Amino acid sequence: MTLSTAPNIDYSTEAYRRAYALINGVVIMGENHADHHFRLLADAIPADREELLALAAMEARHAREFVGCGRNLRVQADIPLARKLFQPLHDSLTSALEQGDLVRPLVIQCLIIECFAIAAYHCYLPVADPYAKGITTWVIDDEHLHLNYGEQWLQRNFSSHREAIAEACRRELPTTLTILQELWSDLEAIGIAPEALVAEFNCLLNDSLGAIGFQPKEVMAISTSAVARALAHL
Ligand SMILES: [Fe+2]
Ligand SMILES: [Fe+2]
Repeated sequence: MTLSTAPNIDYSTEAYRRAYALINGVVIMGENHADHHFRLLADAIPADREELLALAAMEARHAREFVGCGRNLRVQADIPLARKLFQPLHDSLTSALEQGDLVRPLVIQCLIIECFAIAAYHCYLPVADPYAKGITTWVIDDEHLHLNYGEQWLQRNFSSHREAIAEACRRELPTTLTILQELWSDLEAIGIAPEALVAEFNCLLNDSLGAIGFQPKEVMAISTSAVARALAHL
């Protein structure tokens, strides 16, 4: 199969490469965090240890492959800025785990970060260079497995953790959307419409919350209103 290239993108311009350095840094950092988070979850949920370690290994491979995407364009990923952007979510996940809370870490990694990754990679596909497009296509399939793991765990534990799941979403969504705000102009510079990314993220998250057990009205209150509030501040 031949992977076609978006017709009007010049991947060699300074403007593209500058924006790609940050986006690529965020992607690599996000994948490295995901690897770390799934290994922490493997320690915290012994019954699912092997499955979670397998998910972590996928994330480590994603990180390596996206490093290769930057190298292919001869772009040096901006890791320090990406690390700063992810720090609040990472800190929230690790401190919850330290307190024995599984709900918040699963909401952060498996719902919010995975929905964000799937939405971002979907929006990136039509404008990606051919090398990155091939990698991004199969990475998306993996991310769906990670989202499914979290959905199923939260679905099984829905009745006893309903409010904790909703509260974790309400608290972590604004933090996540702050990352998007920081990336807004760089996303545009590499051909991604940030509004489309937000819309797809919201759809994916709403579907997940519905699959876990929330009623449509609750989903609106938890997710759509948080996204709308964040967008109003842009
Ligand atoms: Fe990943
Ligand atoms: Fe993932």
